[in-house]
Amino acid sequence: MDRNLALNLVRVTEAAALGAAKHMGRGDKNLADQAGVDGMRRMFQTMDIEGTVVIGEGEMDKAPMLYIGEVVGTCREGSIKVDIAVDPVDGTTSVAKGLSNAIAIVAMAPRGCLLNAPDMYMNKVAAGPKVAGKINIDAPIHETLKITAEALNKSITDLTVTMLDRPRHEGIIKECRDAGARIKLFSDGDVAAAMATCFEHTGVDIMLGIGGAPEGVLAAAALKCLDGEFQGRLVPYTDEERQRCAEMGADVEKVYLMDDLVKSKEVYFAATGISNGELLKGVVFTGSNTAKTHSVVMRSETGTIRFIDAIHRFSKKPSYAY
Ligand code: FBP
Repeated sequence: MDRNLALNLVRVTEAAALGAAKHMGRGDKNLADQAGVDGMRRMFQTMDIEGTVVIGEGEMDKAPMLYIGEVVGTCREGSIKVDIAVDPVDGTTSVAKGLSNAIAIVAMAPRGCLLNAPDMYMNKVAAGPKVAGKINIDAPIHETLKITAEALNKSITDLTVTMLDRPRHEGIIKECRDAGARIKLFSDGDVAAAMATCFEHTGVDIMLGIGGAPEGVLAAAALKCLDGEFQGRLVPYTDEERQRCAEMGADVEKVYLMDDLVKSKEVYFAATGISNGELLKGVVFTGSNTAKTHSVVMRSETGTIRFIDAIHRFSKKPSYAY
């Protein structure tokens, strides 16, 4: 893949974030999501790729745009063929309520390399580079925490475990507390939380718990760029979901490792903050015609992590009709 495409991905996530942020706190998550989708899709059309959406807004009959299988990009003769995973707004409820931690996300890999994960839950563990290769999603929680603490050269009592604030996590919350660890719950956005484990300044050491499987692929793409660790197992709750897994050839017993979720060595990842989070600042509208965004863009091959502050002047970008 052409490395400059990674920088173009930032334009895609910036457009989604700018669109979604306009609807911050308006109480309508669908409106925020749609604005994110519109911005993202418009910007994809300027990229010289033939991209197939493998993680998107849903099946073709359920999502009008960025649906699974949709082809995006200029699609010229010679355009590079890639897989695209998107989440124009990870944290739609957060945007609707004006809460923190919502981001716009895109990952890109050579064609056929991103897992087409079914839209259901996934049990996940994510951790940073010092812990990578040492943990196992099937190990008892207290053992995982002990290994993580040792790898980070801290005691378990100084370890911070993060997870979605959901009733389904009551059991693991208790196990973490019994082991003596500190816990940081968050309301939405487990891709950003998984990424936070790779940045010491966030104070977050490990992410555990069940979130969306499509978000698992996006988190794996990010953590592959960050030399972190991500493991996941699908959690179908209904017969319909089990049947869906069978149809898609997804194995409900399998522990999906980063190389199963992102099969190529090469993957590009970009995210832009919509609302303030630990890693990315949210969109700030600085005047009627200007806004600031904060993004991260990464490539697994070189491991370069670029944080990009951008000032957008809409008077010079008529296509940004926000
Ligand atoms: P949405 O933006 O699609 O609402 O997803 C937010 C999110 O928090 C994800 O980050 C997470 O993987 C998933 O929802 C968890 O699902 P649930 O809200 O059903 O527990």
